[in-house]
Amino acid sequence: MHHPVLAGAAVEWLGVRENGCYVDCTAGGGGHAECIAAKLRTGRLVAIDRDPIAVAAARARLSPYPQAEVVHGNYAELRALLRERRIAEVDGVLIDAGVSSMQLDTAERGFSFQEDGPLDMRMDTNAQTTAVALLAAQSKDSLAQLLRRYGDVKFPGRIARAILERRAEGALDSTLQLAAAIREAVPRKTLANDEIRRVFQALRIAVNDELECLKHGVLAAIEVLATGGRLVVISFHSGEDRIVKQVFRENARPRRILHRDGRVKETLEPVLGILTKKPVVPEASEVRENPRAHSARLRAAERLG
Ligand SMILES: C[S@@+](CC[C@H](N)C(=O)[O-])C[C@H]1O[C@@H](n2cnc3c(N)ncnc32)[C@H](O)[C@@H]1O
Repeated sequence: MHHPVLAGAAVEWLGVRENGCYVDCTAGGGGHAECIAAKLRTGRLVAIDRDPIAVAAARARLSPYPQAEVVHGNYAELRALLRERRIAEVDGVLIDAGVSSMQLDTAERGFSFQEDGPLDMRMDTNAQTTAVALLAAQSKDSLAQLLRRYGDVKFPGRIARAILERRAEGALDSTLQLAAAIREAVPRKTLANDEIRRVFQALRIAVNDELECLKHGVLAAIEVLATGGRLVVISFHSGEDRIVKQVFRENARPRRILHRDGRVKETLEPVLGILTKKPVVPEASEVRENPRAHSARLRAAERLG
């Protein structure tokens, strides 16, 4: 079961209207999607997920809502997914980035370091590259860079070396083997669990190319929004939030088209109005009930004419 994070705020910032057309880019267990669908009468909801297991769960949850369709796909391809459904523009897009509790809590998916499972970590189980395959292609330097970039890992060099040593011994197929390699490489044992969590996050982000998808998804969402349409993004770590903040800012400024010699040819109006000056964070009571909400940040923006 996945508890939708900041569900009330997400629906409020989306400004869901009963006759509007909305996209939930990350259907997961269908929690946010159900909150949106329940508000629609003549409107429409397209809920997307790249994970076929999440698609099945969301379809089951949304079956009482004929106005909702659940689609298997990557939201980075949002424009194509909407074009296939002959939808030219929408009134709201929600992205609730990252991984779901259902994915984390299913040991066979390989996302969790607390239970043993294969080193898989693919959100889309039809995708080619598993975590094992990704690790097989790394040098020590490239792996250390990946760990630093996607996980803010504190000892990337030591950990990368330890992981590659395990790989060379042929002992790197499972989540607990990976966790053990990291634990041994961390100098202060009190930091081990935190480092293991960061390494797992970094590998998951790399396996699923999550930050690129997020950037493309946010840009595509801005393009498909109707004037006055809203984009709401919930992120769970600094790398994700940085991308959302940057893309929002770039689209909220006037854009200058320059002549070859650098003179300004034309100034285009901004396409986005930022609605949340600071990110919205969950109340303490929500974090108490659902500790996975603790790092959530919600940003919302509106498409200008
Ligand atoms: C945090 S969960 C969403 C939970 C959902 N909002 C709910 O209420 O149950 C994130 C979901 O997004 C999916 N996902 C992540 N990246 C995606 C992408 N690029 N395209 C489509 N789905 C994606 C994951 O498979 C996962 O199911």
